[in-house]
Amino acid sequence: MTVSEQDPVQQVKAAREAFEREFERFARFTGDGLSNSSLSLTQAEAEQRALAELRSRHTGKKSALAACKKLIGRVPADERAAFGQLVQRADQAVNESIEEADRNLKLIIDAARSERESLDVTLPGRRARAGHLHPITLMRQRIEDIFVSLGYIVEDDREIETDFYNFDALNISEGHPARDPQDTFYTSEGFALRSQTSTVQIHAMQRRGAPVRMIAPGRVFRRDTPDPTHNPMFFQVEGLCVDRGITMAHLKGTLAEFVHRLFGPETRTRFRPSYFPFTEPSAEVDYSCFNCSGKGCRICKHSGWIELGGSGMVHPNVLRAANIDPEEFTGFAFGLGIDRTCARIYQLDDIRLLFENDVRFLEQFR
Ligand code: DAH
Repeated sequence: MTVSEQDPVQQVKAAREAFEREFERFARFTGDGLSNSSLSLTQAEAEQRALAELRSRHTGKKSALAACKKLIGRVPADERAAFGQLVQRADQAVNESIEEADRNLKLIIDAARSERESLDVTLPGRRARAGHLHPITLMRQRIEDIFVSLGYIVEDDREIETDFYNFDALNISEGHPARDPQDTFYTSEGFALRSQTSTVQIHAMQRRGAPVRMIAPGRVFRRDTPDPTHNPMFFQVEGLCVDRGITMAHLKGTLAEFVHRLFGPETRTRFRPSYFPFTEPSAEVDYSCFNCSGKGCRICKHSGWIELGGSGMVHPNVLRAANIDPEEFTGFAFGLGIDRTCARIYQLDDIRLLFENDVRFLEQFR
C-alpha cells in the first residue's frame, strides 16, 4: 500500500509521529527543559538552522501534512468534518511546537549575543606590565654613580673605530702580539668594531686635553666563540685620570674607594703585576670576595679574590698620541668588565643569559 492509498486517519497519525520523532531533539527548547540550556552562541545558531529546516520539511508544500490537507476534500462527506478537525489539530500541534522552540532559541541567541557584547565594568582591570632596567644597565648606573661622585665625567663614544684608535694610539703597533687576543670584527671599509673601551681614552684626551678625569662605559666586540664565560659582545667601563703629579698611589686609592662603595667598606684590593701595551707599569686588580670576605667560597672559586680588571700608569706613547706632554702630565687608567661583575654578583653560571633577552630570566633583577 502506498501512502496515498493508506487510510487518511492513519496518514495523519503517521505524519504527526514522524514529526514528533524528529522534533524530539528540540524538545529541550520547549517547556521546562529550557532553564538548563548552556549552549554557546554558535551551537544555538546551528540549532536554529536545523529547526528551520525541520519546519520546511514538515509544514512545507511537499510535506506529509500538506498531503493530508489535500485529502480533506476527498474523504466521504459524513467523515469530512471530523477528519478536517483531525488534520487541523495535527497542523496546529506541529506548528506550535516549532514556534515555541524557535521563540526560545531566539531568546537564547539574544542572550548569548548580548553577553558577548557586554562589558563587565566590575571586572578588575589588567595592570600594564611595568618594564625595568636590564641588569647590565643597573650595574653600569651603579658604577657611573660612584665615579661621578668622585669627580669623573661619563663619556659615551663610538663603537665603530679605526685601527688607529683601537690599536696604534694605544701603543699596539701593527704585528704586535697584543692584537691577537683582541681580534675583532671589521666592516668592508676596514673599520673595526672596538675591542676595548680604551679607545675612548684617546678620544677624550684629544677632545678635552689635560687634565681629564673620565669613565667610558660601553659595548666592545671580540672574535670569541660564545661559551659560558665568553660572548663576542660584552660591556666594559674604561677609566682615565690625567693630571700633573698623578701616581700609582692615586690609582690604588681610587679603585680601593670604588670597591668600598660597590661592595662595602670591608672590601680589600690586591694589585698583581701584569702587562698592557698602553700602561707602564701595569697591574691586574682583584678585590676580596663580597660573599666570603676572602675566606674562600664557590663564588670566588675558593681563592678569596675576584678579578676586577686591568689597570696601570698611562704609557707616555699614549699621552703623546693624544698630544699631551708626558713630561708635564701623568695619568692612570683602568678597564673593568661590567657583565663579568654582574655575573659574579648574581652568581650566573652562564654569561650568555644576560644577552638572550628571556624575560623570565631578566625579571629577576629589578
Ligand atoms: N683594555 C683592556 C682589556 O680590554 C683593559 C685595560 C687594562 C684597560 C689596563 C685599561 C688599563 O685602561 O689601564 O683587556
